[in-house]
Amino acid sequence: MCGIIGYVGNEKANNILIDGLLALEYRGYDSAGIATLENGIISVMKDKGRVKNILDLDGFDDLESTYGIAHTRWATHGKPCKENSHPHCDNSKTFSVVHNGIIENYNELRNFLTDNGYTFYSETDTEVIPNLIHYYYNQNKNENLSVEDKILKATISATKDLKGSYAIEVISPLIPNTIIVARKDSPLVIGTKEGANHVASDIPALLRYTRDFYLLDDNEFAVITKDDIKFYNQNMENYKKDIKNIEWDAAAAEKNGFEDFMLKEIYEQPNSIRETIGSRLKLNEKCSFDSLNLSKEYLSTINKIYIVACGTAMHAGLVGKNIIEKLCNIPTIVDIASEFRYRDPIIDEKTLCIYVSQSGETADTIAALKLAKSKGAKTIAISNVIGSSITREADYTVYTHAGPEIAVASTKAYTSQVVLFAILGLYFAEILGSSDISTLENLKKDILDLPSKINELLEDTSLIKEFADKFYKEKDMFFLGRGVDYTVALEGSLKLKEISYIHSEAYASGELKHGPIALIEDGIAVISILTDEDLVKKSISNIQEVITRGAKTLVITNQNLDYNNFDYIINIPSTNPLISPILSVVPLQLLAYYISKDKGLDVDKPRNLAKSVTVE
Ligand code: M6R
Repeated sequence: MCGIIGYVGNEKANNILIDGLLALEYRGYDSAGIATLENGIISVMKDKGRVKNILDLDGFDDLESTYGIAHTRWATHGKPCKENSHPHCDNSKTFSVVHNGIIENYNELRNFLTDNGYTFYSETDTEVIPNLIHYYYNQNKNENLSVEDKILKATISATKDLKGSYAIEVISPLIPNTIIVARKDSPLVIGTKEGANHVASDIPALLRYTRDFYLLDDNEFAVITKDDIKFYNQNMENYKKDIKNIEWDAAAAEKNGFEDFMLKEIYEQPNSIRETIGSRLKLNEKCSFDSLNLSKEYLSTINKIYIVACGTAMHAGLVGKNIIEKLCNIPTIVDIASEFRYRDPIIDEKTLCIYVSQSGETADTIAALKLAKSKGAKTIAISNVIGSSITREADYTVYTHAGPEIAVASTKAYTSQVVLFAILGLYFAEILGSSDISTLENLKKDILDLPSKINELLEDTSLIKEFADKFYKEKDMFFLGRGVDYTVALEGSLKLKEISYIHSEAYASGELKHGPIALIEDGIAVISILTDEDLVKKSISNIQEVITRGAKTLVITNQNLDYNNFDYIINIPSTNPLISPILSVVPLQLLAYYISKDKGLDVDKPRNLAKSVTVE
């Protein structure tokens, strides 16, 4: 939700800021803007719509400043329009601010500032921030501090008034070539190299400049110039922070010849899965995680596991539940983070809570994790982003190592999350001795074979394309499956909705006749997943029920279906049913992709969505 960029160095800032915004555009693309200092005056260029619009604004090429701040917006308060675009300034144009997050008490603050003579020109929550900084700056104007310290102090005071989440950047003509940043519950990283420093909402946006990063923590502040970064706490105490070297390379965040990031990420899955497996799983050896050291004594006390996440990450959790229950015999509940956090779940020190988040910045998932910790549970975060907020809150973190996922629709992160659950399930089972060794070793072999099986699947995608070409104009589609295939149906349906805007429903096949079958009519597309040998006959009966009512069927299966009257069959390689979603999801990802392309939509940046949902 919203991306922020900052730069201070020796080069002209305008294009560097735009490049950064383009890399962050997946976070929001309702409007964009930049603020630089031109001849001692703050210059703001902003407009509604995509980042590229800024390039066409009069005077953009003439901007000379070698530092500035920038923003790409996912609208929360106020419609997407120029007035509501960031950066926002205080009334006197002494401070300019970009903000990612939500200020929950902005009405209260707005009233306070209005009573103190301030005027507001936008509907945003953000506009209170520069004005509050101005208000506090005036209050401490006569103190015996440097101008920089006065502005820092004013920024700290302003943030103390804010309820909600924020990552902010502040510039002022009073301290040229300096950016002040702060964060709470919204991501902000500082990339550093000789003679220049960059600020961004995420690491991949800066990989083309540096691999050395400072990860700002909640309630931390930094004063950044081209040669220096000073860190402060809320008491204005100055301290040093460690640099983190990030291994991802810049190419990983580029399209590399693919038309879209989503397609590239689908095709990266054999490799991303190899990275997830890493050295954690080997045949005839116990699974291990560098970052996890759970004892048999502890695991034996666990009487329940919660897996909590949102969207696709939650769907990965549904597969994880199946794996953990089968291998470890521990009851496992999957919950949606936004529900979990408000329903007072029954949790104590005998509960292990696992939180899954590709971005590691999803507000509901982070809040749900904090809740479990406060009730005494141990928490494990599964995330793809090194140093993301969730990893800093959890007791333990296991990284998926899938590489940067840029497309809003999650693909390789899902398959890596499921692989990680499989390794985690094996790890728990080996410690507990809850499954026989041959079962575990067979599963390991199947996990290690996954990359080559996905490659096989990706060799010929023509049938999926053919189905997409035929049905892309449909208004509704259904996805059916039983057991683990039902969890994949949910994921396939979500993928289709978010990037093709086709309404779709996923149902457990056996549930269909309890109501939804009333919606099946002549010509409707029904997509079924059939990978579990034990359930295949029952699922086929359910498909026959929809065929009888006129449905056109696509079946994704690893079974030999002797007789069938299905319209399309996509055969996928066989594997252990516990991990079959890692293979059966691939045709569904491609189906959503091709349909979206056929409709001429922006696959990577679907409407109304953003990559990381940092607001409730
Ligand atoms: O970053 P997270 O894994 O926490 O994100 C959770 C969901 O917002 C995310 O999976 C969303 O559902 C995807 N856009 C689905 O493709």
